[in-house]
Amino acid sequence: ENVKQVHRTGYHFQPKQNWINDPNGPMYYKGVYHLFYQYNPKGAVWGNIVWAHSVSTDLINWTPLEPAIFPSKPFDKYGCWSGSATILPGNKPVILYTGIVEGPPKNVQVQNYAIPANLSDPYLRKWIKPDNNPLVVANNGENATAFRDPTTAWLDKSGHWKMLVGSKRNRRGIAYLYRSKDFIKWTKAKHPIHSQANTGMWECPDFFPVSLKGLNGLDTSVTGESVKHVLKVSLDLTRYEYYTVGTYLTDKDRYVPDNTSVDGWAGLRYDYGNFYASKTFFDPSKNRRILWGWANESDSTAHDVAKGWAGIQLIPRTLWLDTSGKQLMQWPIEELETLRGSKAKFSTKQELAKGQLVEVKGITAAQADVEVTFSFKSLAKAEPFDPKWLEYDAEKICSLKGSTVQGGVGPFGLLTLASEKLEEYTPVFFRVFKAQNTHKVLMCSDATRSSLKEGLYRPSFAGFVDVDLATDKKISLRSLIDNSVVESFGAKGKTCISSRVYPTLAVYENAHLYVFNNGSETITVENLDAWSMKKPLRMN
Ligand code: FRU
Repeated sequence: ENVKQVHRTGYHFQPKQNWINDPNGPMYYKGVYHLFYQYNPKGAVWGNIVWAHSVSTDLINWTPLEPAIFPSKPFDKYGCWSGSATILPGNKPVILYTGIVEGPPKNVQVQNYAIPANLSDPYLRKWIKPDNNPLVVANNGENATAFRDPTTAWLDKSGHWKMLVGSKRNRRGIAYLYRSKDFIKWTKAKHPIHSQANTGMWECPDFFPVSLKGLNGLDTSVTGESVKHVLKVSLDLTRYEYYTVGTYLTDKDRYVPDNTSVDGWAGLRYDYGNFYASKTFFDPSKNRRILWGWANESDSTAHDVAKGWAGIQLIPRTLWLDTSGKQLMQWPIEELETLRGSKAKFSTKQELAKGQLVEVKGITAAQADVEVTFSFKSLAKAEPFDPKWLEYDAEKICSLKGSTVQGGVGPFGLLTLASEKLEEYTPVFFRVFKAQNTHKVLMCSDATRSSLKEGLYRPSFAGFVDVDLATDKKISLRSLIDNSVVESFGAKGKTCISSRVYPTLAVYENAHLYVFNNGSETITVENLDAWSMKKPLRMN
């Protein structure tokens, strides 16, 4: 077997070769989904960045086109960095992106626009960068080398466009707000829409409304009584993304997070694993908001170069506000289910006593979609939550309390990408702790034992799950397994964790999937459905 290909994904988006990073400007236009992304046409390391372009009618099968935007003008000669699409009235898409200008000085970032050459082409193959670029430069006290990633713009009631640009001043992360009447002349608002001390550069901000009345997504310009807003930023200091849920004060153009949301490293995350520089868009054809995120490699640069590619896009997720109003919910787009092939199912409930491992047979475990619901009788045996862990992040607790460390209620979950003799495995599991007047539910995706290969980054990714197990006494887990990625959704999408792993034995037909329990409380698998996942017919 070609070693180069063993870790390529079957159904997660990736181009034929080379480096990719951020998804850019996702949109729906005339029946076609567009995905642009940061791409190095010349190699498997970051550099020479252009906007690669793929189109799809179902978000599953993709047709690659020529790069849409590439360096060609003084205002983007050294790179066409991240940005967003906005659909102007009359169904006219426009892209806002960051250009790295021809210096000196070096690395100066400006905001540019590009428009389709031919609106009657639903594939929007050719883009024009008008001569009145750049639209926005750092000439008003902004830090010109930390000034990038314009958002989708939204239209207010008085006919003004607004958009955000990510930045920082010293260590303060900032999202500047710009206004325009004609989309050409932009003026910075007196105050940023939001900022936070000690968070560093805010890359790839995203700002959008979510409905208080159900799962439907909303166009980015919607405001009013029955919506909350979400502000997401990507913090380059930790390479993690954080979001808050809050209120957009439209008259002041300020955003105020709710008191249930905090800014910065203690905040909520779309994903507690490898997921960065994400972006949402509104899909009017199905009235949903869809989230795209990028996962980089956890392998060394030398290996990236040797295999000739680096980076994938994770499965697009539909996202909506949880009924609690405190956090978002995420679920793989329904179209993914069209790739489900042969199915394995537990025909009866399956009890898992302490230490038990049961194999899920009859599917290609290296490329699968698994949905499982676990239940238990009581939380009485839950381990105490050590108060000193309050200062730890979830990841540290997961690294102390791995899947082989016996517990009370949990650890229980899936062993994905497991080799036959368990030399390699990536567990995705829950562990319940008894804390003061409550229980804490930890979800882990632990790469520690994922591979016998040296030189890999093997984090114990983890996040807490905001569920009331004392009442529910059950919890669900879905994992999308795809050769070198395990993308998991706990409690129907309350807590999500994506991880990149590189097994050497647990590959192709030699990969196995198990359910396990290492807690003293017996766990029941209420139901389990697993599918082999087919490859899309077209991807790259
Ligand atoms: C995030 C990021 C963006 C930038 C782009 C460059 O991953 O650093 O801030 O626009 O990547 O490729």
